[in-house]
Amino acid sequence: MPRILGLSGSLRRASFNASLLRAAARLAPEGTEVDVRGIQGVPLYDADLEAQGTPQAVLDLRAALAEADGLLLVSPEYNNGIPGPFKNAIDWMASGAGADLFKGKPVALMGASPMATGTILAQDHWLPVLRTLGTRPWFEGRLMVGRAPEKFDDHGALTDADTRKRLGAFMAGFAAALG
Ligand code: FNR
Repeated sequence: MPRILGLSGSLRRASFNASLLRAAARLAPEGTEVDVRGIQGVPLYDADLEAQGTPQAVLDLRAALAEADGLLLVSPEYNNGIPGPFKNAIDWMASGAGADLFKGKPVALMGASPMATGTILAQDHWLPVLRTLGTRPWFEGRLMVGRAPEKFDDHGALTDADTRKRLGAFMAGFAAALG
């Protein structure tokens, strides 16, 4: 039974990306477990802080990654790049002892934004990060959810039929790749 750590990179309560991740968990194939998480509680990376001990929020995310067969990054896009808070969380996770957790780990990327291009540029900006961490990126599926306010209802449920179909296929493909 493949186990996926799904990480949403937005702190916003009504985040489209958190909503997309919850939909991904529901539409994943039967037998696939998706551990739905966010980056709440992760402080700004500071080597001096780290010298006093790794924050609990980071230790929790590392433990979840250690237990996962694959990592799903659900990334917003800010100024055509990776939002700082999300990059910061991954930097913390991969610091020191955390680096080994990413090596050879299958990673899939998706994201949602109000713009038509739906995070395509942020997804591209993740590529050097995934390469540097020695991950095994899964590139057989792509999912950009553009015009997000039209695709989710006021409670954050993914209502757009075409997006649900594409998301289901994406999750089936990633789960299959995890064996
Ligand atoms: C944005 N947004 C945005 N969207 C996009 O598609 N491309 C972009 O370059 C940017 N740039 C950007 C910069 C900053 C500083 C903010 C705050 C926002 C809009 C962004 O996609 C939108 O706020 C989403 O709703 C953020 O994701 P969550 O929080 O809904 O998951």
